[in-house]
Amino acid sequence: MAHKVGIIGGDGIGPEVIAEGLKVIDAAGIELDTVDYDLGGSRYLKDGTVLDDATIDEWRGLDALYLGAVGTPDVPPGVIERGLLLKMRFALDLYINRRPFVAPDGSHDFIVIRENTEGTYAGEGGFLRHGTPHEIATQGSVNTRHGVERCVRYAFGLARSRPRKHLTLVHKTNVLTFAGDLWERTFNEVAADFPDVDTAYNHVDAACIYFVQSPEQYDVIVTDNLFGDILTDLGGAVSGGIGFASSANLNPEGVSMFEPVHGSAPDIAGQDKANPTAAVLSGAMMLDHLGETDAADRIRAACADTESLVGSTVEVGDLIASRL
Ligand code: NAI
Ligand code: MG
Repeated sequence: MAHKVGIIGGDGIGPEVIAEGLKVIDAAGIELDTVDYDLGGSRYLKDGTVLDDATIDEWRGLDALYLGAVGTPDVPPGVIERGLLLKMRFALDLYINRRPFVAPDGSHDFIVIRENTEGTYAGEGGFLRHGTPHEIATQGSVNTRHGVERCVRYAFGLARSRPRKHLTLVHKTNVLTFAGDLWERTFNEVAADFPDVDTAYNHVDAACIYFVQSPEQYDVIVTDNLFGDILTDLGGAVSGGIGFASSANLNPEGVSMFEPVHGSAPDIAGQDKANPTAAVLSGAMMLDHLGETDAADRIRAACADTESLVGSTVEVGDLIASRL
């Protein structure tokens, strides 16, 4: 039976790269029953819709969501990020953000597991005396034992499933002595249930150096929401660039969403210039999740020689599809 997948092309290059992703999935022999959702900055400018609750309820009945990118320069910052992307994460409880990275020479891969619903992105805080010279803004980091533990457990389970069985916690425990302490204690307690997984710890600033100088030390990394956001952009930059970085926003017990790491790239939108590989590889992650691991592996193999993936958006999509 065809998998029922919600498609949110979004804005800018989003619909362009998703079209190639769907072309490649089709070429891999996987049938999807797709439902299109017109959402993002352009839709907001059309009729004010960002994301309503009825749409979210519909999504709960899907097998997965596949998203290009949302956001346009003429919409004020925060409207789409908070109203669509973060609302989707919170409502569907997409608590795992999973981002794989492959070394440019293909010799080694590692995966960052970023907590996706808490930390400084939870929306805690506010203004006092807004707009006055004595204005105060606070934005606290929210870390629950439940939220940290389910993320850490997922990361340990993933590390266990891989040949190297190695997991690194990245945080800033020397300065963030409350949140860091909760993360570290939780990590050490969960580790007792995974005696076959080797563990390590890095401060996030040191991890930035190692990402550039010695990424081979990593297998699976687990970290909080803000550190993960920044570290994965760095990961994308050191492993082939933004055109190749894929991601999954997972609720292991519910419906999950798959998207390239990049945004809507208004500077190259509509010019058939965007690299669709990140979207194609995100599609492969979606197929893994849908149980179509053979097709997912074949798609990854077709994308492995990144240097050959040059040309227009449609040409690169056609090339990958032709290899299947
Ligand atoms: P961006 O990722 O859209 O673009 C950054 C730079 O990378 C640009 O020079 C762009 O041309 C280039 N680039 C991005 N994807 C590319 C691809 N597939 N092939 C070749 N070049 C590519 O980030 P930016 O400019 O900060 O954000 C643009 C809009 O996208 C904003 O509205 C932002 O809020 C939104 N955005 C949405 C995301 C999402 O939907 N999850 C994630 C990041 C940004
Ligand atoms: Mg980011």
